[in-house]
Amino acid sequence: MSDVMVSEISARETWSVRHPVLRAGRPLEDCAFPHDEDRSTIHFGAFHKARLVGVVSLLHPSEGQFQLRGMAVLADLQKLSIGSQLVKHLESRVLSIGGGRIWMNARAIAVPFYLKLGYHISSEEFHIPRIGPHYVMEKTVGQ
Ligand SMILES: CC(C)(COP(=O)(O)OP(=O)(O)OC[C@H]1O[C@@H](n2cnc3c(N)ncnc32)[C@H](O)[C@@H]1OP(=O)(O)O)[C@@H](O)C(=O)NCCC(=O)NCCS
Repeated sequence: MSDVMVSEISARETWSVRHPVLRAGRPLEDCAFPHDEDRSTIHFGAFHKARLVGVVSLLHPSEGQFQLRGMAVLADLQKLSIGSQLVKHLESRVLSIGGGRIWMNARAIAVPFYLKLGYHISSEEFHIPRIGPHYVMEKTVGQ
């Protein structure tokens, strides 16, 4: 999809996408993730015709280490390249602040998506309660 704009948003703004996609049926407050409000955390939103349709968050806890969290695209707009555009935007930001290792706890169902973006699996499968099987995936950019 070409008419998508990515820009920075607040942690609270991510909830309208996080809730239906990542925390469906759970209290809205479950959309607040640890470190959302850290000064070094950046939230990105993808907008289609002024509607927020995708989100991803970038945590930067230490030099050269970045965590991608809360990757979600509204169900009716998945598989239209919005997720890829968000990850590429996030990677550009990582490059602009020196590059490094980007990692995430990837849901098993999302592994093919991250593989297509050049990430590789770097852990055994593990389970996150109430969410399901995950793998650590990672990629180094700009180093
Ligand atoms: C995973 C997710 C973020 C991907 O975003 P998206 O906008 O649908 O992905 P894209 O359209 O950019 O997909 C890029 C490629 O990955 C593929 N892909 C995306 N999701 C996939 C999936 N679940 N299984 C297999 N392939 C997938 C697409 O078909 C596309 O392939 P192509 O380049 O050959 O056409 C989105 O589907 C989503 O929100 N899923 C539910 C929540 C979730 O699992 N989040 C990840 C938590 S770790």
